[in-house]
Order: sequence, then C-alpha cells, then structure tokens
Amino acid sequence: MQVKPATVAYTIWHPYSHMPDLKPIEVTQAKGVYLFTSDNRTIIDAISSWWVNTHGHAHPYIAEAIAKQAQQLEQVIFAGFTHPQAERLVGRLCQRLPPDLNVAFFSDDGSTSVEVAIKMLFQYYHNKKEPKNTIIALSSSYHGDTFGAMSVSARSVFSTAFEPFLFEVEYIEPTALDVLDQLEKKIQQPHVAGLIVEPLVQGVGGMRFYSAYTLDKMIECCHAYQKFVIADEVMTGFGRTGNFFAIDAIEQKPDILCLSKALTGGFLPLGLTFCTPTIYEAFLDSDKTKTFFHGHSYTGNALACAAANAVLDLFEQTPTLEAIHQIHTIHQERLKVLNKYSSIQNPRTIGSIAAFDIAVQQPGYLNEMSTIISKFALAKGVLLRPLGNVVYILPPYVISSTELHYVYDVIEEGLRKEWNL
Ligand SMILES: Cc1ncc(COP(=O)(O)O)c(C=O)c1O
Repeated sequence: MQVKPATVAYTIWHPYSHMPDLKPIEVTQAKGVYLFTSDNRTIIDAISSWWVNTHGHAHPYIAEAIAKQAQQLEQVIFAGFTHPQAERLVGRLCQRLPPDLNVAFFSDDGSTSVEVAIKMLFQYYHNKKEPKNTIIALSSSYHGDTFGAMSVSARSVFSTAFEPFLFEVEYIEPTALDVLDQLEKKIQQPHVAGLIVEPLVQGVGGMRFYSAYTLDKMIECCHAYQKFVIADEVMTGFGRTGNFFAIDAIEQKPDILCLSKALTGGFLPLGLTFCTPTIYEAFLDSDKTKTFFHGHSYTGNALACAAANAVLDLFEQTPTLEAIHQIHTIHQERLKVLNKYSSIQNPRTIGSIAAFDIAVQQPGYLNEMSTIISKFALAKGVLLRPLGNVVYILPPYVISSTELHYVYDVIEEGLRKEWNL
C-alpha cells in the first residue's frame, strides 16, 4: 500500500493575480464589514469582496437559512426537478422585475448568466430560422471571463491571448454625444441580434457612469428596430445604484436580464437569467432540436437559493435602501473634499458606489497606482482594490458612517502623505 507523505508541495493559483508578487492574506473569520486574518489583522472590506456582499459577512440570518436548508435538501438535479427555494426565489424576484421578464434560467455565476443570455439570444434567431451573428456592446464593457462573456466584453489586457477565439462584436460609446446615432446605424443591420449593456455603471471597465436617459433611449432605439436588449445587472443589481435594480431608473425595459454576485448576499455562487415570454416561446416547439441545450451540474442549487431568499427577507425586513442612501450621502460629502486634490479627476457616486480617477501618465488596469494604493490601505486596515488608476468604494450596506469615514480618511491620508498626490 502506498503511504502518502504528510505534506505535499502545492500551489493555489489565484484569480486576477500577478502570482510572482502575491502573498495571499489568510482570512479565518469575518463579521459585518470586517475580515479577520490569521496574523491578527482586522480589515474593513470596502469593496464587498468583489461586489458580492450586501448585508455583511457571516450574517447570522443568511447563515442559518443555508444551514437549515442543508439539513433538508442540499441539491437536486434541476432537469426535470424543482424545489421550493427555487420556486419561491423566482416568484419573489419576478415581483420586483418588470412584468414581462418572467422566465428564469439558473446558472452558477455572473459569467454563466451572461453566457445563458447570449445563447438564448442567438438560439432565438436560430430557432426562428433568421440566424444572426453579431451583438452590439458598450466600449469598455466587461461581462465575465468565459468565452461568450469575454467576446461581448471590450478587448483588453484580459482577453488579448484569446482574441483569435472570440466572436466579433460591434461597440458603441455610451458617454458619446452621438451614441444614439452610433447605435441606430448598427442595430438595424440584419446580422445584428441585439445590444448588451451594463446598466448605468460599467464596473470593471473603470466604474464608468452613463445617464439613465441614454440607457432609456438606447433600449427604445433597439426596440424600434425589433432588436433585443440584454441588461447585465450582475454588478448593479440588489441596490448598488440606489434602486433595487439599475433598470428601475428607466421607463424602457430590457428583454433579457442577468443577475449574480449580490443575489446570495455574497454567500454562495448563483446566476439567474430572466427573459421575456417572446424569447422563451421560440424554444417551445414539437421539434426537440429547438430545446435550449444548456445546463450546469449545480443549476438552481438549493443552498444558494436559500441564501438568496434570505437576502430578499433582509431587504424586506431591514431598511436596506435607506442604508444605501446614507452611504451615498457620505460619498457625496467626502468626494467633494477629495475633489480639491489636483490629482483627483471625475469624482462620482451613484447609490452605494463611489469612484474617482487619479491623474496618471498611463491610465488603465495595469497602472501601478492600484498596487500602491491597495498596499497602503491594507496597512491601515482597509481593503481597496483600485482598477488601475480608478479608485472606488463599494461597501457592504451594513457599513457604519464611522467606518465609511475611516475608509475616506485612509484615502486622504494616502493622498496627502504617501502617494505624493
Ligand atoms: C457586469 C458584470 N457582469 C458579469 C461579471 C462576471 O461575473 P462572475 O465574476 O461572477 O463570473 C462581472 C464581474 O465582475 C460583472 O461586473
């Protein structure tokens, strides 16, 4: 019999990490906005752990809901089966979504919710025997790291190695004065299936904001040409922009909508893609080749659904949107002060999100300001992860005003003393 050695050499390869420089910090516990490390540090999570956390880490109510569900039903194949947590979740989300977005497809995360959206769109036209092969996306867009999601994202350092394998996309610039003209020219082309947007805020692309008016008019334009719109609310959903969904700020409604991240309050991975009956009906046919042949082993995982239902309970039982508005007020106040620094550009806030750019020679994701700022902030007990020269704060909604002010104090101290700005 082979005896295994007591220890083996291994490497954990971390996401979006330049491994030669990486010394991962071991987090052993978390509570509210705080992360506790094995070397006894306490860190404020000012970015909601990649934008997933809503009501704080290790929230007892969500933890209990998961534990309870784990003792009842942890997982069941979702092809041909369903369970009460999934049914309840979809029903509750449909109460908050536009009435027409009432067909739900589960997946695992943000990227897969986008994959599902893209595949629904292309297969809709395939089933209708009017195949189309192009999607319009926003410049600087980011929709995930799987191949379809990468394809509809802006070409960037993230995707350079894979460019030969990505399908072509046409881009429009949402902040350009002529964005609607750009869109109108492109959307009417017969090979174009529709438009994908990150509504109001483009997160990974640099926390770029654009107006609700533009979003409304873009959707109107697509619908005027009978083309579909996918709203990727993976980052903006669940209160980030001040409304429950970013699309609550507009009149027109998308035809497909993607959710993930905050869907489970940051507890478990889960993706959901909603579409309209018009799209769904193209898959309902006696011809079985028109079936949507897509699924994942953990589709509709019962624990993740239980977490998501608990998150909705907390939205109903606690004044979460009010907490977001309070965060927003502090953002406004402190950004005003930051604006006095000559190196700070374009301070902006929407809902619980605040961001500003640092003037640098070479802006972009690889700009070293990201490392400099995150290192300094970490030493002061704050987790920030700037997108290159774009600094943002996107805290869990339970952050207190004292904690949020502390985050800004650290940033200001860095600006004054450390970063020569
Ligand atoms: C708008 C948007 N869509 C999709 C994704 C991908 O989500 P995930 O990382 O869960 O795959 C992200 C991730 O940041 C995102 O911001």
